[in-house]
Amino acid sequence: MQLMKRLKKSLAEWECLSRFGASGRTLSGRAGGKPSGITGFPRRLALDGYPLPLGTNRFQTLPLGNGIFITGTDTGVGKTYIGTQVARMLKAKGIDVGVMKPIETGCGVRNGKLYPADGWKLKKAAQVDDPIELIVPIRLRKPLAPFVAAKLDRGKIDLQKIDRAYETLRKRHEFVIVEGAGGALVPIQEDFFMLDLAKRLKLSVILVIGNRLGAINHALLTIEAIQKRHLPFTGWILNDLQPPTEASRTNKSALKRLLSAKNNKRSPRSNAVDHK
Ligand SMILES: Nc1ncnc2c1ncn2[C@@H]1O[C@H](COP(=O)(O)OP(=O)(O)OP(=O)(O)O)[C@@H](O)[C@H]1O
Ligand SMILES: [Mg+2]
Repeated sequence: MQLMKRLKKSLAEWECLSRFGASGRTLSGRAGGKPSGITGFPRRLALDGYPLPLGTNRFQTLPLGNGIFITGTDTGVGKTYIGTQVARMLKAKGIDVGVMKPIETGCGVRNGKLYPADGWKLKKAAQVDDPIELIVPIRLRKPLAPFVAAKLDRGKIDLQKIDRAYETLRKRHEFVIVEGAGGALVPIQEDFFMLDLAKRLKLSVILVIGNRLGAINHALLTIEAIQKRHLPFTGWILNDLQPPTEASRTNKSALKRLLSAKNNKRSPRSNAVDHK
C-alpha cells in the first residue's frame, strides 16, 4: 500500500512534468530541451499521458500492479530512453525498481558473449545488481523480429523462461519496468505478439509514440490493438525524435482530439425506451 502511494505520487508528478513538454523541458525536468549526449538540434520530450476509458485509467487511480510494459509505435521510437528516465525518476523517489527487456534482438558480441545494449542501459539506470541474463532472458543475434531471429538462431522463443525471469524480478523489486521489442504486434511466436506478452505478465501498457509524420496512424492502430486485448493502458508519450516539422507540431493536439472523439462515442438513446 505504501508502495502504491509513492508510485501514484511519482506518476502524478510525471504527468505534471509532461506539461513542460511544450516549453522545451525533458522528462527529468531539465530546462533547455537538450538531453545529454544529443547534439545537432534540441530534441525535447513532448510528454502527454492521455487517459482512455479502460476502467480506472488516470495516473492517480491506475491499477499499476507490479509494473509497466513499455511498447512503441515502432522500433527506435524511444522506449529505452523513456524506460531509463522512468527508472531514474522512480528510483529517486525511493522506489525499488527492477527492469527487464524480456527479448532483445540485434545483440552484438562482447567478450565472446551476446551483449544486449538496451538491457544494460536499463540496468544502469535502475542501478540494480540483477544479472543481465535475468534482465534479458532471451538474447538474439540478428536484428530481426524475435520470431524471425529465433528461427534463424535457435528455434522457438521460450515463454516460460521469460515467466520465470519476470517472477524472480517481481519478487526482488517493488516495481518492474518491462520494455518490449519493436512495436506492439511484433511477433514472438507464430500466434503470439508483443502485447500478448504484456497481457501474460499482467502489466499496464505505456505507449511511446515517435513524433513524426505517420505517428497518428501508428498510434491509433496500436491503441486499437491494446483495447482489443483489454489491457490496462497507462497512457501515451509523444517523443520528439527529430527537429520539429509541421507533422510533429500538430500531432499532439490531433491525437488528443482523435482519441477523445473515439472515446466519447456513445450509443444513441433509444426512442423506444423514451416513450415507454
Ligand atoms: N527524447 C529523446 N531525446 C533524445 N534522444 C532520444 C530521445 N528519444 C530517443 N532518443 C534517442 O533515439 C535513439 C532511439 O531511442 P531508443 O533506443 O530509446 O528506441 P527504442 O524504441 O528503445 O528502440 P528499440 O526498438 O531498438 O528498442 C537512441 O539513440 C535514443 O537515445
Ligand atoms: Mg529499446
